[in-house]
Amino acid sequence: MGIDQDIKDSSLVLLKQGAEARVFESNFVGRKSIVKERFSKKYRHPLLDSKLTLKRLNAEARCMTKARRLGVSTPVLYAVDPVLHTLTFEYVEGPAVKDIFLDFGLHSVIEERMEDIATQIGDAIGKLHDGGLIHGDLTTSNMLIRSGTNQLVLIDFGLSFTSTLPEDKAVDLYVLERALFSMHSLCGNVMDRILAAYRKSSKQWSSTLNKLAQVRQRGRKRTMVG
Ligand SMILES: Nc1ncnc2c1ncn2[C@@H]1O[C@H](COP(=O)(O)OP(=O)(O)O)[C@@H](O)[C@H]1O
Ligand SMILES: [Mg+2]
Repeated sequence: MGIDQDIKDSSLVLLKQGAEARVFESNFVGRKSIVKERFSKKYRHPLLDSKLTLKRLNAEARCMTKARRLGVSTPVLYAVDPVLHTLTFEYVEGPAVKDIFLDFGLHSVIEERMEDIATQIGDAIGKLHDGGLIHGDLTTSNMLIRSGTNQLVLIDFGLSFTSTLPEDKAVDLYVLERALFSMHSLCGNVMDRILAAYRKSSKQWSSTLNKLAQVRQRGRKRTMVG
């Protein structure tokens, strides 16, 4: 491989510019990869900012590794760079659950595929929660379906934290429920399918789902007031 090719392969293509991170497609020793760079918030003190950014970066790497240990499929973490504030992951080929669910009812997405994905989602969240890990950003954009195997891969542990509180688990599920409700209303009872799988997967399902009922009620009251 010539130098030109090396440079081309290590180039970064911006995929997403978020509020806290930029996500690039790149190449890591010959493999297609994702580089997630956390950047500083200019209004914070530079030293404090750098410390916080590094803390979040490490937390994201640690939570993703923990998820993997709990039996949930995540991208392989290739590298952590504490100076550049980047994480490098395996690039997962395949669509986001968001796009599959948006296509549902339009064409090609059949009921069984939906059910399989919903079951995988409930199962994965149950495993995370029983291991004391809260994902913190369960939306259908943060779930990929690996091409070929149709395996669910959870990504974006940038807001994850450890907790064994039923309340934290319930809020995790509630975030997903709201996201499904607002973006995937055509998918009908997909949340019921997810929760059915969650009950099978999590030993502590009962306390979490009781809390979820309370969290929903709070949400409803808030909607009525404001
Ligand atoms: N490992 C990966 N493989 C393929 N695509 C990915 C991967 N990680 C992230 N992406 C893509 O980049 C987007 C943003 O990454 P994410 O970690 O969710 O960052 P953000 O915190 O900005 O949402 C994802 O929604 C997905 O489209
Ligand atoms: Mg995301």
